[in-house]
This record gives sequence, structure tokens and C-alpha cells, in this order.
Amino acid sequence: TRGTLILGIDTSCDDTGVGVVKLNTDGEVRVLANRIWTQTVHASYGGVMPELASREHVERIDAVMGDALAEAGIAVNDIGAVAATSGPGLVGALLVGLMYGKGLSQALGVPFYAAHHLEGHIFAAASEAELRAPYLALVVSGGHTHLFDVPHEGQYVLVGATKDDAAGEAFDKIARLTGLGYPGGPAIAEAALRGDPNAVPFKEPLQGQKAFDFSFSGLKTAALLAHKAGAKPEDLAASFQRAAVHALVKTTRRAAEAHGRQTVVVSGGVAANRALREAFAATGLRAVFPGKGLNTDNGAMIALAGAAAIRAGRPPSPLTDGAVAYAP
Ligand code: KG4
Ligand code: ZN
Repeated sequence: TRGTLILGIDTSCDDTGVGVVKLNTDGEVRVLANRIWTQTVHASYGGVMPELASREHVERIDAVMGDALAEAGIAVNDIGAVAATSGPGLVGALLVGLMYGKGLSQALGVPFYAAHHLEGHIFAAASEAELRAPYLALVVSGGHTHLFDVPHEGQYVLVGATKDDAAGEAFDKIARLTGLGYPGGPAIAEAALRGDPNAVPFKEPLQGQKAFDFSFSGLKTAALLAHKAGAKPEDLAASFQRAAVHALVKTTRRAAEAHGRQTVVVSGGVAANRALREAFAATGLRAVFPGKGLNTDNGAMIALAGAAAIRAGRPPSPLTDGAVAYAP
């Protein structure tokens, strides 16, 4: 069938992601390619070094783009639109993909769409099911724990967020504390399979709140104390995971009820968590998750956000708009 091939680029942090999606004339979208280069230069620093991240993106982006075109089985001239993340993220890193995308769109004479990183995470779920507003969207990653209501296409109302750490950050910190390794999410999930979720008592964060917020620093402190008291890493992992999943699901479910939403999109790195997926499936809500390889930062989700913008009839973005560390 005929349609538009959209190239998506994400260089917001330490992953160089380029993806290709096809938007058919009937509005259906399909992911044709999703290539990610994950930087390893930061390992010895214990965190992402912004300047090193920018340089690595510059060195890698051509190759990742070539891989994505090859995976999609298309030529560069087949691209009908380009989308790139403009924020939020590390400004220097963002600029690499943003400028690359703008330049490419100019060279090809096709429209350019600047994408919000979180909108990209949300639209990653469009790989699995048609996403039509209204719905609720929970973005849970290493940098974000944000709950949005999406009453209409392209309109995002923040209804809740973390008051301290992001959910993924808590997984990462507790994994480091207990020596389970990095990245912490998969390490905790794996260890939890061998642990007792009742072994370590965790108090529910923000219990009794009327709002729809999240908090993970209390769980982190409780984990530290339990660790010092000699709790086994796998028991800590299982108990913490259950507490974190419970908090995420309970608050999201309350928000869905309050806003009258039946569909919940759960995306971002932590959405890969099996226990979280099972807990959402048990709520009776229609829970939609991104497909394989689309939970963590990637370019295909940005191409999907671009496809949604095109489908909604949004005008292309001005090439004069820059990268923003904190996008609204
Ligand atoms: O979306 P992402 O790649 O980057 C950010 O924008 O932050 O998310 C990465 C985060 C990390 O904190 C990682 O530990 C977490 O997602 N994560 C998981 C799982 N896989 C990745 N957390 C829980 N369970 C998992 N299976
Ligand atoms: Zn992200």
C-alpha cells in the first residue's frame, strides 16, 4: 500500500537512535526499522558525561542512520518526512540529532517535525495498538515518572509526577546498592524472580493522597536500611519491585477512574518490567505497552510521534526552533 516513510531520530541522552516507520494512507502505522547505538564511554564515570555524549552522537549518527535505512530496505530518497527530538534532554546531545534531522529534511525537500521526547515515549505504544484519544499515559523511565491525561489528540495534561526520584532511577540505585549491577531495572526484575516479596516490608509512599503523584525516595531509604540490616539482595529486589509496581498501578488506576479513561499507555524504560505489565493487565483497564525494543530511548518512537503529528494535520516545525533542556 502507498504511504509516507518517516525517519525518526533521538539523541536526547546517551543512545543514538534512528528508526523508520510507514504511515499508510488509511492512517495505519508500522515500524520498519529501529536501530540504537548505546554509548559505553560513560561507564567509568558513573554517569553520563554530556560533552562525551554529544561527540559520540556526531561520530555515530551516520552509521546508525545507514543501518536503519538498510533494515527498512529503503533508500534515503524514499523518506517522506523527518522527525527529531528537540527536548527535553542534554542540549548538546539533542542538537546533534536535531541539526542532522533538519539538514536531512532540507536536503530531501521534505517536512521536518520537532518531537517532544515524552510524546515519543507515549507514541512508542502506537507500534502495538491504534492510539486514539482520550487515554491516560504513564511515562516511567530513568528520568521521568509522569502521568498525563490525553483528552484530545496532541493535548497533554500533566495530572501527576514524582516528587523526588524517577521510578527507573530507584531501580538503578537499589540495584547498585545491593550489587545487582547496571542497568538496575532488568537486574532487579531478574533477581526478584528468586526472592521473597514479603521479606522486606515497604511502606506505601504518599498513602492516602488525593493527588496522583509518586515518590520513590522513601522506598530507596527503606531499601538502604534493610540492606544494612542484612536483607538478601533477591529478597530486597522482590520486595522493592512489588512496592514500586503497586504504587505505579494504584495511582494510575485512581487517575483513570477520576478522569473516566479506559485506556492507559504505559511507556518508558520501566514499562519493560514484566511484573508491572502483569499488574496492569489485572486492573481490567486496557493497558497498552510499546513493542519490543521500543520501551527505552529509540528513534522509532520519534518517527511514530511524527506520524501522529502528520495524521493529526499538524504543520511542520519551524527550522528556527532550537533544542531545549526542559521542554514544557
Ligand atoms: O527510557 P529509558 O531508556 O531512559 C530514560 O529516558 O531514562 O529508561 C531507562 C530506565 C533505567 O532506569 C532502567 O533501569 C529502567 O528504565 N528499566 C527497567 C527495566 N528495563 C529498563 N526498570 C524496571 N524493569 C525493567 N525490566
Ligand atoms: Zn527517555
